[in-house]
Amino acid sequence: MRDARYDILFEPVAIGPHVAKNRFYQVPHCNGGGYRDPSAAAAMRGIKSEGGWGVIFTEQTEMHHTSEITPFIELRLWEDKDIPGLRRMSDAMKVHGALAGIQLAYSGINGPNFYTKEVPLAPSALPIRTFTNDPVQARALDRTDIKDLRRWFVNAAKRSKIAGFDLICLYGAHGFGIFQHFLSRATNQRTDEYGGSLENRSRFAREVVADIRDAVGDTTAITMRVSLDETIGELGFSNAEVRDFVEMNADLPDLWDLAHGAWEDCSGPSRFKEEGAQEILVKGIRELSSRPVVGVGRFTSPDVMARMIRQGILDFIGCARPSIADPFLPKKIEEGRIEDIRECIGCNMCITGDMTMSISRCTQNPTFMEEWRKGWHPERMNEKGDSRTVLVVGAGPAGLEATRALALRGYDVTLAEASTTLGGRVARERLLPGLSAWGRVVDYRQYQISRRTNVETYFDSRLTAEDVLAFGFEHVAIATGSHWRRDGVARQHVVPMPIDAAMTIWTPDDVMGKVHPENLAGKTVVVYDDDHYYMGGVMAEVMAKAGATVILVTPSAYVSDWTRNTLEQGAIHVRLDDLGVDIRLNRGVTAIRAGEVETNCSYTGRRKAIGCDAVLMVASRLSEDALYNDLLARQGEWADAGIRSVKIIGDAAAPAPIAWATYAGHRYARELDTPDIGDALPFRREVTQLEPA
Ligand SMILES: Cc1cc2nc3c(=O)[nH]c(=O)nc-3n(C[C@H](O)[C@H](O)[C@H](O)COP(=O)(O)O)c2cc1C
Ligand code: SF4
Repeated sequence: MRDARYDILFEPVAIGPHVAKNRFYQVPHCNGGGYRDPSAAAAMRGIKSEGGWGVIFTEQTEMHHTSEITPFIELRLWEDKDIPGLRRMSDAMKVHGALAGIQLAYSGINGPNFYTKEVPLAPSALPIRTFTNDPVQARALDRTDIKDLRRWFVNAAKRSKIAGFDLICLYGAHGFGIFQHFLSRATNQRTDEYGGSLENRSRFAREVVADIRDAVGDTTAITMRVSLDETIGELGFSNAEVRDFVEMNADLPDLWDLAHGAWEDCSGPSRFKEEGAQEILVKGIRELSSRPVVGVGRFTSPDVMARMIRQGILDFIGCARPSIADPFLPKKIEEGRIEDIRECIGCNMCITGDMTMSISRCTQNPTFMEEWRKGWHPERMNEKGDSRTVLVVGAGPAGLEATRALALRGYDVTLAEASTTLGGRVARERLLPGLSAWGRVVDYRQYQISRRTNVETYFDSRLTAEDVLAFGFEHVAIATGSHWRRDGVARQHVVPMPIDAAMTIWTPDDVMGKVHPENLAGKTVVVYDDDHYYMGGVMAEVMAKAGATVILVTPSAYVSDWTRNTLEQGAIHVRLDDLGVDIRLNRGVTAIRAGEVETNCSYTGRRKAIGCDAVLMVASRLSEDALYNDLLARQGEWADAGIRSVKIIGDAAAPAPIAWATYAGHRYARELDTPDIGDALPFRREVTQLEPA
């Protein structure tokens, strides 16, 4: 039973003509699938309904073809043809009693219209503002365009109603939605009745809300999502102006949905933002309106959530990432199973699905976006197959997830770990600056495993092929991880680079193992990053904090280049700059000699030496696959030893981010003892229906 402290989270709250059954509100979030994978996205929302959310939203839905954000894959509601796909989603949302919401986005100054080839329309004629600085400008909406746009919103609202949605969210946050473009002096430089004073800048929002209310307001609630602060100084829509706007238009929408700044600010990773980081910006706004307020802040602690409501800061607990990591979060609180919550680690891997137009992954929840494609449920496993015993070698993220999921299926699992702790790379990386929340990958699984009687864990067990053959387990999963290379092989160098043995070389494993002196004052360390995800930046931070003079050399044009996909690249650059790290972009390392590294320009190849005392090599990783290869070499002995299968998973198979490892562990557990599908595709997909030729 749930703790009475959390009763407040389960109170019903009215939103316009509807009542949400509780205060758990899944705010809009994309998933990389969108219009390309409608059934996968619908099933993902359906799982959240089962997990107890009171309100569930779509991602941003492009509501008219004159504004779209190709290449990013969101939803579309351009014509009646789009309704059935969206109906599938609203139906899924409502199965367990949630209210279904759709977020309507007109991207204005944020929409380059690469697909529709329409001229973008925005309050003022300015360059399109996207992640990729597209060489396109918008035309300023004239009065006729504004009338058209109002009508397009009404058309979209009517279609939303037919598609079964109870709530419509008008998007004006993160710099993405046209309502913000009208509200901000930065993007609205008009001199007519839609520009100038806040009253005038609010006019468009007031008109659209009134139009939609006339059209569908009897059955459909209208919510407005605005940024808490545009974070571009006085010219932008500041926190003070947001408050003025809400006060001036207090009862305009049926609910205020408040979300901080740019997307990078709002979905800040745990490395840079704590849980509840938006509290200060949102506090007090609720008092300016009689309408309920939803806010966000990577909420995973029910105590923090209850405090937000009790202190009158919020009416609804908005969650995107916590609902991805654990779609059953409300249900677990309701059932008094707090310790079963799979807490979001704030790594932002989920965002990369959108940024890379692939399909989203979650480090903590490997079933995310596989609910329909593979039929995976986040809380239930498929039935156990005909074998009984599994040996999992290695207790990193892949081994732990495989063990947890196999145990849930009912197998007797033996987990053998070479060290004295669970977690593998995560156990080490969680100790690095800013990464402590990543330890939840281990904590969640360790706890789940500890409660199962069908798992035995052995530490200090570095197994040989001989050992494994002697044990006689039916299945063996090799999840032995990887280690960082010392020879520089990555992208610039596909074979080892020349390295003089007189130079001290450290790898991230050395740093995590603390082989370097604690105090590096007076020493110069070159961090060579040819990995391009987070590790190079983190290593530079560790070295700087140890007192070294740090020079970060990378062949890329950005520090920690790939973290642009996790929305933290800018924050990493700022942090390193604040720490005094000397950042040298577009430079590789061609040779390491005694006392210096020879660098080269990524474009011209011109060389320059940098004197240093040590090089921290963040290159690529090597799989720890010796045990697997030894076993493969003795495949002829498996049958006699009672072994039916040996598989290598996670970093041991091919090093990748932690999310790949938990996915690999989960997949292994799901597929054990299942029929061989031969050459068939291992997931379902949707193919565009052909129109007549
Ligand atoms: C993967 C992902 C996709 C998102 N897509 C949208 C979106 O389509 N529309 C929107 O208003 N906000 C979007 N957001 C922002 C979230 O709604 C939310 O405001 C933000 O992530 C902070 O909430 P959280 O800390 O609970 O994740 C997205 C966030 C994530 C993580
Ligand atoms: S990918 Fe990371 S940030 Fe996103 S929901 Fe999962 S754990 Fe949280």
